[in-house]
Amino acid sequence: MEDKKIPVIIDTDPGVDDALAIMIAAASDKIDLLGITPVDGNVSAVFTHKNALNLVSFLGIDADVAEGGYDQLVYRYGRYASSHGAEGMGGVELPQSDRKFHELRAWDYIYEKAKEHNGELVIIAIGPLTNIARTLIMHPDIKPMIKKIVMMGGSTERGNVTPYAEFNFIVDPPAAKVVFESGIPLVMAGLNVTLKTGISFDFIGSLAKESGSKIGGMLNELIHGYSDVNINKEGEKSSVVHDAIAVAYVIDPTKLETEEDRIEIQTERFCEGTWGQSKVVSGEPNCTVITDIDMDYYRQLYRDTVEHFSNLK
Ligand code: BDR
Ligand code: CA
Repeated sequence: MEDKKIPVIIDTDPGVDDALAIMIAAASDKIDLLGITPVDGNVSAVFTHKNALNLVSFLGIDADVAEGGYDQLVYRYGRYASSHGAEGMGGVELPQSDRKFHELRAWDYIYEKAKEHNGELVIIAIGPLTNIARTLIMHPDIKPMIKKIVMMGGSTERGNVTPYAEFNFIVDPPAAKVVFESGIPLVMAGLNVTLKTGISFDFIGSLAKESGSKIGGMLNELIHGYSDVNINKEGEKSSVVHDAIAVAYVIDPTKLETEEDRIEIQTERFCEGTWGQSKVVSGEPNCTVITDIDMDYYRQLYRDTVEHFSNLK
């Protein structure tokens, strides 16, 4: 008997690595991608919404796009992320979509889908946590209806905006705090794992060449247009596709290593270094923290994605 697909909503700020994460999720036969809820983050929400609509239209992804937040719970910290290009897609131009948003806003959409899926809904949150926090504040009875929130954000080690804070969390720390105090099962793909598991330029280049397909070229172009570059744990020059690690966990958690931690989000602005930090403290764990991933498994997800969208013209 075929396994039931996991009902998933992706909350996101596309974003190059967001776009790649969405593509991997849409290509997976383990995931039923119900909807996408864009949020202000890497670039202004005007662009993240436009990018989400254009992406689902261009790729023919059968998922709703429900309009999310244009601003943070309290206020936005700092600049947009220059690593994603001026409009968020690293310079890749997608055709303008004429798709409309779903009739519900993100927080009401998530609530309705959680009720419909009876405790099985998984949220993959790969942008600042504004929409998710707003959902929890507006619909507090949703908590037992969400199976888990798998997020890219935070770090148990260094940050990437300040010494300790990661981008998604520092854009809206009060939102991250609401999520971490919700009691919902949480899984965190933080910088402690994403920075060492970049996808190598050589791999993605050969994948594009071998496939000779439009989608292979698009992946290659996205990855080259994204300036978050690091040396991965295999010693290769790589593009850090942070958000895809959260999707990889949902597809097959047995291929990732984790630890259980108690994380507190720092929302006191004593100094720049701790605002938005995901600090590991002692006490009852409230989060599964991803610490590593099997790179062969991870690379296979990119091959599967190219295969899935191989008919794209
Ligand atoms: C996170 O911030 C964004 O720039 C990426 O899309 C990712 O979600 C990494 O810190
Ligand atoms: Ca993101």
